[in-house]
Amino acid sequence: MVRVLFVCLGNICRSPTAEGVFRDIILKNNSHTDILCESRGTGPWHVGEPPDPRSQECALKNNVDISDLRGRQFSTYDFEVFDYILVMDESNYRDVIKLAKNEDDEKKVKYFLKYSPKSRGLNVPDPYHGGPEGFQNVFRLIQEAAEGLWTHLKSEHKF
Ligand code: 4NP
Repeated sequence: MVRVLFVCLGNICRSPTAEGVFRDIILKNNSHTDILCESRGTGPWHVGEPPDPRSQECALKNNVDISDLRGRQFSTYDFEVFDYILVMDESNYRDVIKLAKNEDDEKKVKYFLKYSPKSRGLNVPDPYHGGPEGFQNVFRLIQEAAEGLWTHLKSEHKF
C-alpha cells in the first residue's frame, strides 16, 4: 500500500480538490487497495469544514464530487503514516518541512506540480481570494499533475 497526502494552507480549496481528483483516478483504475490518499491543511482554521463551496462547484462541473471531504490539519504524525507528502506551493513546503524530525521525513515532501507532464512551475496558485476562473485554473493544474502522479506511482510501485 502506497500512502499519498496532499497538503495546502486551508485544506478547503486545493488539497481536497487534489484528493478528490486522485481518488477518482484510483477508483477508475481499481487500485483502491494499492493506494490510500488523503489531504491536510497547514493551518487550523477550517478543521471539520467541508471544502469551499466554490471548489465543490468547480469540481462537480468537472464530474468530481468532493462534498464528503472535511478539513484536517497537518501534523508531525502524518510523516509516520504517509509515503508521499505533496505540497501545493513553496509556503506549504516550508511549513511542512519545519515539522520534519529527520532526513527521512524531509525526503517525503515534494511539490505536487513536479508530477505534471507539463512545465507548470512549483506553485498551484491559492484561489481563495480570487474569482471562479482561478478555481478552474487550479482544477486543470491539479488534474494534469494527478494524471502524472498516477503514471509515476504505477511504474514505481508496479500496480
Ligand atoms: P487552500 O486555500 O489552501 O487551497 O485550501 C485557502 C483556504 C483558506 C484560507 C487560505 C487558503 N484561509 O486563510 O482561510
